[in-house]
Amino acid sequence: MASITKYFLICVFILPLVYGDTPGNCTYDSILGSWEFSIGETGHDNSVNCTGFTAPVLQKLTIELYFPDVAFDNYGNKGVWILVYNQGFEVVLNNRKYFAFSKYVKSGENYTSVCSETLPGWSHNIDGNDWACYYGKKINTKDRLQTVQVKYTFQPPKPAPITSQSAQIAANLPAEFDWRNVGGVNYVTPVRNQASCGSCFAFASAGMYESRLKVMTANEVNITISPQDVVQCCNYSQGCSGGFPYLVSKYSEDFGFVEETCLPYTAQDGPCVSEIKCKRHYGTKYRYVGDFYGGCNEALMKIELVKNGPMAVAFMVYDDFMSYQGGIYHHTGLQDKFNPFEITNHAVLLVGYGYDHDTKEKFWIVKNSWGTGWGEEGYFRIRRGNDECSIESIAVESTPIL
Ligand SMILES: *[C@@H]1O[C@H](CO)[C@@H](O)[C@H](O)[C@H]1NC(C)=O
Ligand SMILES: *[C@@H]1O[C@H](CO)[C@@H](O)[C@H](O)[C@H]1NC(C)=O
Ligand SMILES: *[C@@H]1O[C@H](CO)[C@@H](O)[C@H](O)[C@H]1NC(C)=O
Ligand SMILES: *[C@@H]1O[C@H](CO)[C@@H](O)[C@H](O)[C@H]1NC(C)=O
Ligand SMILES: *[C@@H]1O[C@H](CO)[C@@H](O)[C@H](O)[C@H]1NC(C)=O
Repeated sequence: MASITKYFLICVFILPLVYGDTPGNCTYDSILGSWEFSIGETGHDNSVNCTGFTAPVLQKLTIELYFPDVAFDNYGNKGVWILVYNQGFEVVLNNRKYFAFSKYVKSGENYTSVCSETLPGWSHNIDGNDWACYYGKKINTKDRLQTVQVKYTFQPPKPAPITSQSAQIAANLPAEFDWRNVGGVNYVTPVRNQASCGSCFAFASAGMYESRLKVMTANEVNITISPQDVVQCCNYSQGCSGGFPYLVSKYSEDFGFVEETCLPYTAQDGPCVSEIKCKRHYGTKYRYVGDFYGGCNEALMKIELVKNGPMAVAFMVYDDFMSYQGGIYHHTGLQDKFNPFEITNHAVLLVGYGYDHDTKEKFWIVKNSWGTGWGEEGYFRIRRGNDECSIESIAVESTPIL
C-alpha cells in the first residue's frame, strides 16, 4: 500500500493540476469571442521549434469562436474549435489546424492565467507537411463579428444531452460488455505501472491505441506503445508533470507513437531521444466523445465503446479512491446538470460496462496504470450514469492507422 500512496502523491497530489498540467485555467467564458492569430513563416516540417515564437509575423488571421465548437475566420470560412479542458484550444479551419496552450505568467510564487492570450503554438495544414508557429490574442472586433453574423445568421449549437436517438441505440447495446472478453477474446493489453511520474495520460492514450489496433485487426496486431516517448518528446504535454489524452492523440497524428522497445519506460523526464528510425504508429480522427468538451454522456460513451473499442477517460481522484480494493467505487453523486467545466486529475482507459446483478447498480470497467497489484488486478469499477467524479465528462477517442 505504501507504493500506492506514493503514486497518489506524485500523480495526483503534488502536482498543481496533475494530469491537468499547465497552470492555465481558462474555461469557455474566457475563450469565446474574437481572436487575432499572428502567424510566422509557413513551409516548415513538424520539427519546427515554436518555443518562444514572437516574430517575424507574416500573416494575421481573425477568428471568432462560438460556444461550443464553431469557428469562423474573417473571410467567412466556417470551421470548428475545441476547448481542451482548461488548458488551451485547437481550431480546425480552412484546411489548417492551430493549437496553443493558454498563456500563464508567474507572479511571485504563484501562476496567473492570461486567458486572453495564448503561448506560442503550432499550426499546420491538414496533410501535416506545412507547419508554422503562431500566437493568439483576443481582440474586440464588434464590426467584423457583425459582418460574419449577418452573412451566416449563426445559431449557436446546444450541448449534447442524451438524445432520444442515442438513448435508443444505447438501449439496444448489450447490458454488459467487456473488451477483455468478447466471445472469449481479450482485446485489452496488459496493465502497466506508471510509477512515480504523472504520466497517466500517456498510459491511457497508449492503452487505447494498443487495444483499438487489436480490435481493428481481429487480435492479430499486438504491440506495446512507448509512454516514455510521449513523456520525453510530446510538446503537447508536460512530461511527468501531466498532459491530456486529446493532445496525446493529436501527437499520434502529427508525430506518431513509437513502440516500447524504441524507448522503454523509465518514469523520468528527459530530452527527446527516440531514434528517428524507429517505426512510427499514427492515429487519426482524435476527438472528444460528443465532439466538444462538455458534450460527453453515458449513452455516447457506451455506443463509442462497443463500436470502436476502449477509450481514454478521466476523472477526479479523491482520497478515498486510494484505498479502493474492489467493488463499485462511488465518491459522490454529482448533479445531473450540464457543467462545461468539471475537475479531473487522472486519466485511465475505459474497457467495459456492466451492472451488479443483485443491486442492479450500473458501473464502468476501467483499466488503471498503477500495476496489477492495485484494485481488481489493476482495474476498477466505478458507478455509471451519474457522471461519478466527472468520469462521463471528458472521454476521448482516436483511430489507429493500419
Ligand atoms: C479553474 O476554474 C474553474 C472555473 O472557473 C474553477 O471551478 C476551478 O476551481 C479552477 N481551478 C482549477 C485548479 O481547476
Ligand atoms: C519538441 O520541441 C523541441 C524543441 O523545439 C524539439 O527539439 C523536439 O524535437 C520537439 N519534439 C518533437 C516530437 O518534435
Ligand atoms: C527552441 O527555441 C528556444 C527559443 O528560441 C530555444 O531556447 C531552444 O533551445 C530551442 N530548442 C531546440 C531544441 O532547438
Ligand atoms: C500566492 O497564493 C497564495 C494562496 O492563494 C497566497 O496566500 C499568497 O499571498 C500568494 N503569493 C503571492 C506572492 O501573490
Ligand atoms: C501481447 O504482448 C504482450 C506484451 O508483449 C504480452 O504480454 C501478451 O501476452 C501478448 N498477447 C497476445 C495475445 O499475444
